[in-house]
Amino acid sequence: MEQQINRQILLIKRPIGIPDESCFKLVTSGIPQLLNGHVLIQTRFLSVDPYMRGRMNDRKSYIRPFQLDKVLNGGIVGEVIESKSNNFFKGDFVVGNLDWQDYSIAEEKEVRKINHEIAPVSTALGILGMPGLTAYFGLVEIGQPQINETVVVSGAAGAVGTIVGQIAKIHGCHVLGIAGSDKKTRYLIDELGFDTAINYRTAPHLRKALKEACPDGVDIYFDNVGGDISDAVISLINKFARIPLCGQISLYNETQIPTGPRIQPRLLTYSALMKGFIVHNYADRFDEGIRQLADWLKEKKLKYAENVVEGLENASKAFIGLFAGENLGKQLVKVS
Ligand SMILES: NC(=O)c1ccc[n+]([C@@H]2O[C@H](COP(=O)([O-])OP(=O)(O)OC[C@H]3O[C@@H](n4cnc5c(N)ncnc54)[C@H](OP(=O)(O)O)[C@@H]3O)[C@@H](O)[C@H]2O)c1
Repeated sequence: MEQQINRQILLIKRPIGIPDESCFKLVTSGIPQLLNGHVLIQTRFLSVDPYMRGRMNDRKSYIRPFQLDKVLNGGIVGEVIESKSNNFFKGDFVVGNLDWQDYSIAEEKEVRKINHEIAPVSTALGILGMPGLTAYFGLVEIGQPQINETVVVSGAAGAVGTIVGQIAKIHGCHVLGIAGSDKKTRYLIDELGFDTAINYRTAPHLRKALKEACPDGVDIYFDNVGGDISDAVISLINKFARIPLCGQISLYNETQIPTGPRIQPRLLTYSALMKGFIVHNYADRFDEGIRQLADWLKEKKLKYAENVVEGLENASKAFIGLFAGENLGKQLVKVS
């Protein structure tokens, strides 16, 4: 192997509020020895995900916090460039949760091979990966979409939201997306076939705009963002509404969670279901989910967008950009 330098991104400071560049550091190290049963992987793409913000706090959650002065870790697509495994070979593309660096050594069980005949390998981090599965199981299992129902999705132009809205359309629903720019709302309607979309940053009165756009009320609210946006949508839910609680990005940088309206009376009187979930709850059904998403992709019932930033050195910038809404579709970093 020619290149022996392994660049890595460390977390060196726990962010308070919105993270900035001072929380991260690019360092170089060597590449560890390849052991039997292991593979050497060259990182091609990094997945940049909002949940990583939670791991930057030193707080108990469903996943352990990142350690200070250690390499960040997340979804990676890479190419096997050397193998001491009987199941993986040079040239295989794999996906797994690995460190944010140029080269990783991984055990066989840490990675899964990607079938790159269906779609480009990067989609294993997006529509054919964790975000796609999140959209699929959250909407289909918790949302239980029925024909002609009204579905509202927040964070609609992101990795999960773009797929939620399209799956809702496949189920014959009326779909409204909420996103943070006119470019995004136009994309949702013109390219992805959403029925309506609202720019929450410019709508003078969000609840009023939602009410006008959803004259029959809201049957399913797929919540990616929480906060004021969710308060407005939840005030419009119908009897027996379902609310898959997927993400709360508007609160991830809050040092103190603000108190909103008490929503329990509305949930109670409208017999509504609000259910939080983590995609890994459905791990034993991931193969089924990927198969379904791949079929829809092949049938051209699903489209996807990727926002690709070039260079490992720009990975922290791409991460910070999530909180400013810089991405349309799945945020990736192309490393090599
Ligand atoms: N439960 C699970 O297992 C699971 C799995 C994956 C993701 N998630 C969650 O699902 C949500 C979406 O994830 P993703 O990967 O698809 O990210 P994403 O939507 O691709 O990227 C984040 C987007 O959030 C929006 N945003 C940022 N700050 C906001 C704020 N203060 N208020 C409203 N919107 C804001 C921005 O779009 P705008 O321009 O529209 O503001 C930004 O582009 C996140 O909350 C994430 O944590 C949950």
